[in-house]
Amino acid sequence: MKKSFQNLVVDHMTLLVEPRYYPVAYALFRIVFGVDEAGIIYEKRKRWPGEAEERSMTFAVKIGENRSPRKTLSQSIFAVVQPSEPASQSSHVRSMLEARGGSAHWQHVALRTSDLLAFHKHAIERGVNFITPILKDDDEDLIQVFSGEWIMPGRKPSGLFFEFVQRNPGRALLQKIASGNRQAWFRDRTFLGLYQEKETEYQSGKVTPFIDEDLFFALEKSLAGRPLWEIKAADLKAAEKIMKDYAAAKKSRPAAPALA
Ligand SMILES: [Fe+2]
Repeated sequence: MKKSFQNLVVDHMTLLVEPRYYPVAYALFRIVFGVDEAGIIYEKRKRWPGEAEERSMTFAVKIGENRSPRKTLSQSIFAVVQPSEPASQSSHVRSMLEARGGSAHWQHVALRTSDLLAFHKHAIERGVNFITPILKDDDEDLIQVFSGEWIMPGRKPSGLFFEFVQRNPGRALLQKIASGNRQAWFRDRTFLGLYQEKETEYQSGKVTPFIDEDLFFALEKSLAGRPLWEIKAADLKAAEKIMKDYAAAKKSRPAAPALA
């Protein structure tokens, strides 16, 4: 049975592009997708150490909206990110693009839930890994959390993950959004929080998977190579039990001693 917090709708999607494509992508969104200046709802710049000029790290475009009474919550938004770091510096965005053959790559889909705490608990209890705690902005009308990547055991990181978000827009936020306030939909703190977390993961070489390899193997085994149409409710119930047992065992396991 689907719970109300599992009624997930797309909040935004994040696209990685190579630096040469970044300004071209901007022009394509403006010209082909018809995004006007008010439709550029976020842009974040940074001056990296040793660099004279600021570089744009990311911009977000609103490419459309559903003209329903709650239109501010049914918009189509893309965030575009380029590896803005100097060539001499590591960049997880560059690594993700290289691993996927370059050019452009969908990195994450942000899904909005009515109750992020409930969704997060549900997922944790089934062995899903998250790379951040639940991130809050100062106004506390936006909370976000980011999952691990969908990675096959033994394979390289895929650079593909999910964000889960809950927005509780009060009147003030709705007015900010209506007036084209750039900070209203994306926040520096949560953008930079995720950015740093992914950078740390990629530099350490330890990229958290969506589910642990052992849980992947256990799920794979429980499904026994059956075609999808032969996976019945009872099989899914058994798979869910494997996930819950795995998560419970992991939680009760004493933490590994810290390396000296
Ligand atoms: Fe996002």
